Amino acid sequence: MRRKTAGSSAQRGANDGDQASAWEHAAEQDARWCAAVVCLYRCVCIASGDRRGFRYGTRLTGRSWYENVGMYQYQQTHTYLPPRSRGVQTMMFSCSVWSPKGGVGKSTLSINLAARLALETSRPRVLLVDLDTQQSGRTWAAQAKQCGHTVPFDVAASDAQASAYDIVIFDHAPGMLDASALKSQVTLMPLLPSFFDAAAAIKGQADQVAKGRRVMLLPNRLEMNFASDIAFLAGFVGKPYIRKRKAYQATIARGLTIYADKSGIRGLHEARREMDNTIDALIDLAAA
Ligand SMILES: Nc1ncnc2c1ncn2[C@@H]1O[C@H](COP(=O)(O)OP(=O)(O)OP(=O)(O)O)[C@@H](O)[C@H]1O
Ligand SMILES: [Mg+2]
Repeated sequence: MRRKTAGSSAQRGANDGDQASAWEHAAEQDARWCAAVVCLYRCVCIASGDRRGFRYGTRLTGRSWYENVGMYQYQQTHTYLPPRSRGVQTMMFSCSVWSPKGGVGKSTLSINLAARLALETSRPRVLLVDLDTQQSGRTWAAQAKQCGHTVPFDVAASDAQASAYDIVIFDHAPGMLDASALKSQVTLMPLLPSFFDAAAAIKGQADQVAKGRRVMLLPNRLEMNFASDIAFLAGFVGKPYIRKRKAYQATIARGLTIYADKSGIRGLHEARREMDNTIDALIDLAAA
């Protein structure tokens, strides 16, 4: 497996402590500057009687100390790392996208994962197995064909033909599942930043790990302007996560994926990076 980042993960791990405190320090400095600038701005607003501007400044200051520091740290440590999976020789990889909870983004992730993996330089044959009776994957493929888009992977209702493919992604229906029913190397379990979702996902993960499966939790639909979502990520330091983006919804609705070129949809670049980080972590997990 070829990686583009400098240094091994062991070296990175050794430097993590130093880097974290350096970033913490930098983030604090940033937050202080931010608060000072907002303070000055508010003084100008008071002097000129601009009440709207003053309120805007209040909103900014209200967030600066806690959330801006959190945002800064997370952007530095957790996300937008240079994509490592470009050019990876991903052969014979299979992944189940499953969660006991419904509506957590399994189908959206499955479709984009399959699309990303089909772009690998080795041009692997990719199959998306849509195991959900709601047929989200198949509905999306039909929509893509209707809109005249090429689907870069095959979509099927069963894994009967799976042996003819290099990469197989299973999109599961929600609900508890016996781990022995899963035929893939790894399980990707998206979860929303909520107490109930986390509790169900952690239980589901423990059940599967007890049966010897490799499971990766993936926080999904995070809104980084909410302190609670940032706090939620504290349990996933250094792990990939997916932010809430219109790009995911807009592409799916048009029978596209986040890899669609010239679609005019905003946020695709950031979404692709998130997906790259997720795939890197999954491939690392499969190889571990
Ligand atoms: N990162 C994201 N940002 C914004 N919207 C998202 C994101 N991920 C998923 N969604 C939206 O969340 C909704 C549920 O997604 P999806 O259908 O993929 O979930 P699911 O887990 O497959 O649901 P089900 O359990 O019903 O099969 C959809 O409207 C989808 O567009
Ligand atoms: Mg689904």
